[in-house]
Amino acid sequence: MKSYHLTAGGGIEGLQVRNHPDPTPGPGQVLVSIRANGLSLRELKVLDGQYPLPITDGVVAGCEGVGEVVAVGTGVRRTKVGDRVAATVFPHWLDGPFTLLYADQLGSSLDGMFTELAVLDELAVVAIPEHLSYDEAAALPLIALTAWNALTGGRGLQAGESVLTLGTGAVSLAAVQLAKLAGAEVIATSSSPAKADRLKALGADAVIDYSQNPSWSDEVRAVTKGRGVDHVIDPVGIIDQSVRSAAIGGEVTLIGASQGQQAKAEPLAAATIFQTGAAVRTIAVGNRAQFLEMNRAIAVGNLHPVIDRTFNFSELPEALTYYRQGKFFGRVIVSH
Ligand SMILES: NC(=O)c1ccc[n+]([C@@H]2O[C@H](COP(=O)([O-])OP(=O)(O)OC[C@H]3O[C@@H](n4cnc5c(N)ncnc54)[C@H](OP(=O)(O)O)[C@@H]3O)[C@@H](O)[C@H]2O)c1
Repeated sequence: MKSYHLTAGGGIEGLQVRNHPDPTPGPGQVLVSIRANGLSLRELKVLDGQYPLPITDGVVAGCEGVGEVVAVGTGVRRTKVGDRVAATVFPHWLDGPFTLLYADQLGSSLDGMFTELAVLDELAVVAIPEHLSYDEAAALPLIALTAWNALTGGRGLQAGESVLTLGTGAVSLAAVQLAKLAGAEVIATSSSPAKADRLKALGADAVIDYSQNPSWSDEVRAVTKGRGVDHVIDPVGIIDQSVRSAAIGGEVTLIGASQGQQAKAEPLAAATIFQTGAAVRTIAVGNRAQFLEMNRAIAVGNLHPVIDRTFNFSELPEALTYYRQGKFFGRVIVSH
């Protein structure tokens, strides 16, 4: 079998293809034939040596992978040969809050998913929704689960509440879809009129062009008749405007900060949090229990993740280069 191994800090060029004998699952483990991977900014950060969690030089890269169980070890009860599964990004984090005990992650400190075969603990995989293809399901383990946790893992989204999503990166698109599924009013931001149309087609009720007004939280307030939104999903790090957009008792989930740093976003003042009366939290993807919950909702709602383009496994470096160019709307997938 073939796997792509990372060279810490070596970028896309540092990826090395290595051949290995097919592995055998031990007690409590399953062998998964990987069928698809999702690409994300996280992979570029890991390869470029800019990721906040520990990276082990030489591990198999990639944290998002789905596939078919092709063998099981002794004592495996939850999964059988032929099952379609996704690997959980934090394999040891089953439930409850995130702690450093669970920080080991696929494709950074542990061997990951850019491989043809992977051995995983039976508790480190979950069944994928039946209506999704493998390519679609590859959009779930990191990106969709992060959006789900942002919406449901804190104060918890209720039907009829309002949600603000920032930009058209992968996490925000997933959040738009999941928030609509949960019966929310969705306000989205984008700098592109063409992407605004696509956001509306996905269900966004209003789209604000943030590039026309650095104080776009005023427009969020106008759309919500002065009240502000119940949930802000901020993968961008424009935290001052995010907090100013929130309702009293609302919640801002900060998911990433890279774009805000690049744009030299206004820092968040203590007085702004105090005046808004909203809570700010950060998250780390989500746990296994949340992944199971999300998959139930996706199955019942017949939700299909948005896919921009699919590459072959042999084209992984080209796929990552395409991702780096940033000209996509929806997920970039590698199909095996
Ligand atoms: N905490 C976690 O668990 C977790 C999990 C997954 C990912 N992450 C991190 O979360 C971040 C999200 O990544 P992503 O791929 O979803 O999206 P992304 O690449 O960070 O966002 C790209 C989009 O953000 C918008 N944007 C860029 N600059 C902006 C600005 N100055 N103001 C407002 N919007 C701006 C643009 O939308 P338009 O083109 O529409 O204008 C752009 O297309 C990454 O940093 C990733 O590493 C964190």
